[in-house]
Amino acid sequence: MKVLVVGSGGREHALCWALAASPLCDKLYCAPGNAGIAEQAELVPIAAENIEGLVEFARSTGIDFVVVGPEAPLVAGLADHLEEAGIRTFGPSAAAAQLEGSKGFMKDLCRRVNVPTAAYGRFRDLRAAKDFVRRHNSRMVIKADGLAAGKGVIIPANQAEAFAALEDMMVQRRFGAAGDEVVVEDFLAGEEASFFALCDGRTALPLASAQDHKAVGNGDRGPNTGGMGAYSPAPIMTEAMTARVMAEIINPVVKGMADAGTPFRGVLFAGLMIDPKGPKLLEFNVRFGDPECQVLMLRLQSDLLPALVAARDGMLDHFDLRWYPDAALCVVMAANGYPGDYAKGTEIKGLDKAAQVPGVTVFHAGTRAEGDRILANGGRVLGVSARAADVRAAQVQAYAAVDRIDWPQGFCRRDIGWRAVARG
Ligand code: AMP
Ligand code: GLY
Repeated sequence: MKVLVVGSGGREHALCWALAASPLCDKLYCAPGNAGIAEQAELVPIAAENIEGLVEFARSTGIDFVVVGPEAPLVAGLADHLEEAGIRTFGPSAAAAQLEGSKGFMKDLCRRVNVPTAAYGRFRDLRAAKDFVRRHNSRMVIKADGLAAGKGVIIPANQAEAFAALEDMMVQRRFGAAGDEVVVEDFLAGEEASFFALCDGRTALPLASAQDHKAVGNGDRGPNTGGMGAYSPAPIMTEAMTARVMAEIINPVVKGMADAGTPFRGVLFAGLMIDPKGPKLLEFNVRFGDPECQVLMLRLQSDLLPALVAARDGMLDHFDLRWYPDAALCVVMAANGYPGDYAKGTEIKGLDKAAQVPGVTVFHAGTRAEGDRILANGGRVLGVSARAADVRAAQVQAYAAVDRIDWPQGFCRRDIGWRAVARG
């Protein structure tokens, strides 16, 4: 098969790394990719949002299968356009991608099919939203309805901050049209986990669990980011908890989407809050997590490509995936200043030495090559990852590799995996 991966981050590097190892993959392309991905795939200089350009490239190159990494092109209909052009695509239709593209859509569906999630209201009117906040004494969370690159969720400390967040979204339009509608919901306490299931429209197959570290600083302090590191498995996702998440959240949603005539095909990523009573859904994403994908791919023993094809073809029943029992852990190295302003173009050295640490794979997120030099080209730049017998060992190896990387203009958290390590 000729396979095209769409995207340019650490998630897409991990997908390319896994797909390149498939005996079914004759030729791998990535659009637009990054300097690390160039080792596994031929880079194609077409942006992930350029739907017309991607369809044209796939058609003229005879691509057999496309794997879409990020959410924005899915919400914009990339999978629909590729399928219309006769190109099989892993990733949901625009209608099904509304599970991530509209938080209000997702909440309404959850209410209809009885999925446990925070109580909420949807608003397009500032005054009505403020009234709702005023009437609720409990702590609230304010969310822009549309895509906001992970920045559209505000957890205000009091009513004044809640009002300010609402004005910021609905009047100042900080997130553009994505904030013209907002969801206001109850604050949930507990432990977060990322849960992934491959879906073929009718059947869902659970993948390994992971835990992400969203805050930029050690001890989970500082502003939220796209994710500063991850590990798998998440100890809180026991077999019993996985069974509950499938029965109470994933399966009802897959059925609800099919019943609505918008079957979900692709990977469904549930952001969960788990408390002693059980799992509650925080959000859905319609794609792999980044950096969760990096640790999942390190643990996946089976061939990824037939699994993604089976999800596209509606053949996931009777499909089975094998995983290494080991743990995997990924430390994100970001450019100084991230998630605020940061510089691009600084040189990264020592990548070869880092990759020599046993069990280590260095995924690139925001890099580009200039001759033999590797330059930073984004906020999150590298995902230094390791697979080992347990989380502690994976942590030791990942940081040993981090310490071999010579990049004064970058930083990372030093405590990725702390929760699992503390559990022993
Ligand atoms: P989201 O993009 O919806 O996953 O939200 C980003 C982060 O905000 C989540 O990972 C949680 O840490 C936090 N969050 C979202 N919704 C809630 C909620 N209802 N209660 C508590 N924390 C939340
Ligand atoms: N790491 C969280 C996400 O990909 O949304």
